[in-house]
Amino acid sequence: VSSPADTGHLVLIDQTRLPGEVMELRCRTVQEVWQAIRQLSVRGAPAIGVAAAYGVCLAPHDPQYQEMDPIASVHAACDYLATSRPTAVNLFWALDRMREVAAQTGAGGLDAAFALPADRPALCRALIDEAQRIAQLDRETCAAIGRHGADLLVDLPVGAGILTHCNAGALATAGDGTALAVVYELARRGKRPHVWVDETRPLLQGARLTTWELMQRGIDCTLICDSMAPLVLRDGRVGAVVTGADRIAANGDVANKVGTYGLAVQADVHGVPFYVAAPHTTFDLHLPEGSQIPIEMRPDAEITAGMGTMTAPAGVACLNPAFDVTPARLIRGLITDRGAITTLDQGTIAATIAAERG
Ligand code: MRU
Repeated sequence: VSSPADTGHLVLIDQTRLPGEVMELRCRTVQEVWQAIRQLSVRGAPAIGVAAAYGVCLAPHDPQYQEMDPIASVHAACDYLATSRPTAVNLFWALDRMREVAAQTGAGGLDAAFALPADRPALCRALIDEAQRIAQLDRETCAAIGRHGADLLVDLPVGAGILTHCNAGALATAGDGTALAVVYELARRGKRPHVWVDETRPLLQGARLTTWELMQRGIDCTLICDSMAPLVLRDGRVGAVVTGADRIAANGDVANKVGTYGLAVQADVHGVPFYVAAPHTTFDLHLPEGSQIPIEMRPDAEITAGMGTMTAPAGVACLNPAFDVTPARLIRGLITDRGAITTLDQGTIAATIAAERG
């Protein structure tokens, strides 16, 4: 994700084209950013938040909002971007921060120069500064997650397997990722991790994205179909499972890419520790438990013709939730930028996450 600061548009890698092509997508309007998020050109909870924040910066220039006061255009853009995807809470967290900047600007709170709500250049500068802070915070949280995760997995034997699901790497964040930040940090520490990558039906984020980014970085990995995970777990090839998260409830229940719950059950059966790596911005402490997390339902065609080829008869009934919820009892630890939480209860989680939530 690159900043619209100088160019007036947002540049993203179009992840729907990977691994075949590395193509840039240029978003010039708020609607184009909404579309990029909706169609998963940019995806992964933290990256969605960062992209949306930059998307808000486009609002004061966007012809769609020309009739509005620039501050009203920011709020309208936030309302609209909030409808792009419902599950990753990082989206709403980032939009709230952008709204706050607009509100302060309108009240003249940032600087005397902001006394006039129509001071468009000052508002634009404040928005871009905030979006860049959000991106920078994400880079720092990724690095901290990597360090805490590598400390936690210190006893993993050299060359041990780590199994992951979906893509929780650099492509999903502004930094090194969450689950994969742990892998990269282990590699930096000379542990030579081997990553088992679930292909991740139906949109193959594991096969298309995780293997691609691991290979770019020279990390050993093996791609498996999701249905093969129980075999590699049973055969003792995996020392730990580490996934990302889209939203974590106050009790430690985790919403992540559909299939994560099944993987946690399999890991539990085979006595393999199951960890979730996520920044504090992925916690939603207002929700007591995971059953309250809104789960996105995606089009049937993603199952019946996900990569363009028909793989099921036309008209077949489908159920296509993009995420599932893994209960806290199946999770050995939450690896956050504020430390690893290995006792998953409301008090411990709140003490780690709520204390300095920013
Ligand atoms: O539908 P996606 O590809 O946005 O789903 C992404 C995931 O489920 C990731 O595991 C999660 O967002 C964490 S990314 C650091």
